[in-house]
Amino acid sequence: MTPDDKLQLVTEGKARFRAFLLPGKGESEPGGERKGGLERWEERGVPTRSMPVFYNPAMVVNRNISVLAVNAWKGKPIGRMDVCDAMCGAGIRGIRYLLESGIDGVHVDFVDLNPAAIRSCRENIELNQIPSSAYETHVQDANAFLFSRAVHEESRFAVVDLDPFGNPLPYVDAALKALRREHGLLHVNATDLAVITGVHRQATLRKYQATPMRDVPHHAEISARIVIGAIFRKAIEQDITIKPLFTIARHHFVKVIMERVSSIERANADRQHSMGHLMQCRSCKDHFAIGIDDFLGAKECPACGSSRVDAAGPLWTGDLQDGGFCSAMAGNAKDFRYMAGKQETAKVLGLAAGAAGFPPGSHDVHEVAESLGVSPPSMDELIEGLRLAGFKAARDVINPTAVKTGASRTDVARVIRDSRPA
Ligand SMILES: C[S@@+](CC[C@H](N)C(=O)[O-])C[C@H]1O[C@@H](n2cnc3c(N)ncnc32)[C@H](O)[C@@H]1O
Ligand SMILES: [Zn+2]
Repeated sequence: MTPDDKLQLVTEGKARFRAFLLPGKGESEPGGERKGGLERWEERGVPTRSMPVFYNPAMVVNRNISVLAVNAWKGKPIGRMDVCDAMCGAGIRGIRYLLESGIDGVHVDFVDLNPAAIRSCRENIELNQIPSSAYETHVQDANAFLFSRAVHEESRFAVVDLDPFGNPLPYVDAALKALRREHGLLHVNATDLAVITGVHRQATLRKYQATPMRDVPHHAEISARIVIGAIFRKAIEQDITIKPLFTIARHHFVKVIMERVSSIERANADRQHSMGHLMQCRSCKDHFAIGIDDFLGAKECPACGSSRVDAAGPLWTGDLQDGGFCSAMAGNAKDFRYMAGKQETAKVLGLAAGAAGFPPGSHDVHEVAESLGVSPPSMDELIEGLRLAGFKAARDVINPTAVKTGASRTDVARVIRDSRPA
């Protein structure tokens, strides 16, 4: 059997395409080796001709959100809209932008370093009868391609989508430079979970130049904030900043959709007010954010006065979600009835909209209840209780068993205790 015999015809959104289904952990891959998922290729880094071009069905919600984001985005240019699918693989993202974004003038540049990927991408473009005026394909390194389009404003992109194996940071500089000055939209996926979650602590310190934190319920949010913080530091080197519009962390990826903002004043203000550390108290288990310029002076927990405080960061302490943008995406999701994973997509977007505007971190209802020795209330009960006590509160989108709130851990604990039968 040749590897091509394992190619499958798949439908996702309005796109049909042929690709290898990504095997799950421990399943045999087209090359015959047994190693879970993408790990083998992530370890190698540079793609080769022998590397099969995968379709990963686990990313369907991720790609749905990419399509909905472009559709809901207010910064769309009038007329032609240039999109760069910078690590296109079999081309599914770019093809879906062309078929489903609801924008007439979309033009996609499909880029991949692996010639086999571009061959597969071209076949899939043909399968979907995309007119030749709507796309170009390039066997090229993403950085080389993006830098080549960065010099002149008129050749820059409205949207750049970075979906590498693992760490996206090596491509962020070029992507930000290749985006239009005003309202360029950047999609970033990070799948180097062992690095951003701190399993490989030295790699987190080296690649993201941030201290991770693992043993807290909101560790996934911390990972997402470390990724955004690292992207932000690349941006301010260019005298620009970023505005996160949507952020999610799941067990196999962190995804951030953000706008490029060309303002030195905003860059300065974000450095001061939206970058810092998340501090975690070992005594009372509360957490608090501290600004980047105040970090060295921060030794005590403001809740209990303990000096047994750990720090994660530097990381992005500003908003992860833009409530209006996430609500618009969630609203539009209802019109995309054909989408596989539409319920999960709509749920994620609704939660993201609700989670906008809260300080960093969250309180996990099970963890707090367990520390009190009581059974956990339902999420609705806890949120209602916090609101009645005068606090803003909403379900978290990143940790589904946690609340986002301005209340301290002591207040959350009190509300939980009061809600339990005596
Ligand atoms: C995670 S896959 C992309 C999946 C695809 N975007 C999708 O949604 O199905 C990563 C792709 O990045 C490509 N790649 C890796 N390094 C690259 C580089 N330096 N420049 C361009 N493409 C690269 C790989 O060949 C691979 O096809
Ligand atoms: Zn404390």
